[in-house]
Amino acid sequence: MQNLVWLRIQGRFFVLLHIEILIMLNVMISCYALNCLPEEAFRIFNSMRSDGANGDEFTFSSLLSICDILEYYNFGKQVHSLILKLSFESDILVASALINMYAKNEDVIDAKRVFDKMAIRNVVAWNTMIFGCGNNGEVINVMKILRDMLFEGIFPDELTISSVLSSCGYASAITETQQVHALAVKLSFQEFVSVSNSLITAYSKCGNITNAFKCFRLMLEPDLVTYTSLINAYAFHGLGKEATEMFEKMISCGIKPDRISFLGILSACVHCGFVNTGLHYFKLMTDVYHIIPDSDHYTCLIDLLGRHGFVNEAFEFLKSIPIQAESNMLGAFIGSCKLHENIELAKSAAGKLFAIEPEKIVNYAVMANIYASHNHWLDAERVRKTMRDKNVAKFPGCSWIQVGNQVHSFVSSDKVHPKLLQIFATLKMLLSSMKEENGVKL
Ligand SMILES: *[C@@H]1O[C@H](CO)[C@@H](O)[C@H](O)[C@H]1NC(C)=O
Repeated sequence: MQNLVWLRIQGRFFVLLHIEILIMLNVMISCYALNCLPEEAFRIFNSMRSDGANGDEFTFSSLLSICDILEYYNFGKQVHSLILKLSFESDILVASALINMYAKNEDVIDAKRVFDKMAIRNVVAWNTMIFGCGNNGEVINVMKILRDMLFEGIFPDELTISSVLSSCGYASAITETQQVHALAVKLSFQEFVSVSNSLITAYSKCGNITNAFKCFRLMLEPDLVTYTSLINAYAFHGLGKEATEMFEKMISCGIKPDRISFLGILSACVHCGFVNTGLHYFKLMTDVYHIIPDSDHYTCLIDLLGRHGFVNEAFEFLKSIPIQAESNMLGAFIGSCKLHENIELAKSAAGKLFAIEPEKIVNYAVMANIYASHNHWLDAERVRKTMRDKNVAKFPGCSWIQVGNQVHSFVSSDKVHPKLLQIFATLKMLLSSMKEENGVKL
């Protein structure tokens, strides 16, 4: 009789097995988790616990899936300790959810710790670890995990390969991209659309657009993501004409562009100064495809107009946008004002920007530079003082490049690299020849 539970729902009594109740509660928890209602999920879990039920692997993996955001990270760690107490840590489902949670919260070390303790690791567990590491830009570790995986005789699947490739692209690691490409060919994975799509993006980000295009040409059935990847690749390399041709080809193949592919073509137009073409695509998106632009599309359009000399038009556009101006739109606009030396319009946008993002130091730096370059020293000093008072430059922007097998990373105003002098000398030389060739204002 112990395994039976009486339940009263709307005045009627039901007799259920205990296991059925657990399944019901699990379904509820996972529904709440999927629908982004973390508090409800935890409420159910707590009432379950106070009724003496512990939950099982499904309960825990649902709960952990909630905790992949910073807000619930501490709850996630508590769930982890409960998992240890109840000895669920060796379950593949639970361990994968733990790895995912730690990795999403940028704690790759703890993710790896959970991973290393797993007795049995299937391809899902390996993929979760690779994905988590790759998302944190650790291409060297990703490659190491891939090697370990092959060494242990676990066969990668197409998801493994595309995750590894996207981390290669992210870190601009060309040698690794080529190695993984070779592996993909060896395992006959290049026929998977997802693998080819990742190859296109990886080669493009590593600076080899020729190979990106080759991967595209070999594909039998390129899909929307394929075309979008290639359009983005062309945009990234400043090849506006190729990007528009590809966009037209995509439409003529009967593929319906979505908001992401429109974003790609718009940014290609921004990079290449195709103002009219950009306006045409924006109109095509809203009027023909009835896609409601989001803040990224608006930002592109402001950039397109402002950067290429239409600062007033960009300002009018900014004012006409039906949603609240966001920081990236204002930032793009201020950048244009800086380029075309329109200090008045920059000022009015900066006021709004500081109100939206009072803690973001780079905004103040840009404004201080604009003031200084126009000899508005008092304004410049006022902004610099605000900057110092806030003193919040905790997370400077970081970029990196791989030379040989070493990754060099740089943060803004970084002065620690051993070859600092040579780097700056080369940069100066490049800038002056760029200026000579294009008359670019930098
Ligand atoms: C791209 O890679 C191919 C070989 O894979 C090479 O021949 C070519 O020079 C590379 N292009 C660039 C721009 O690096």
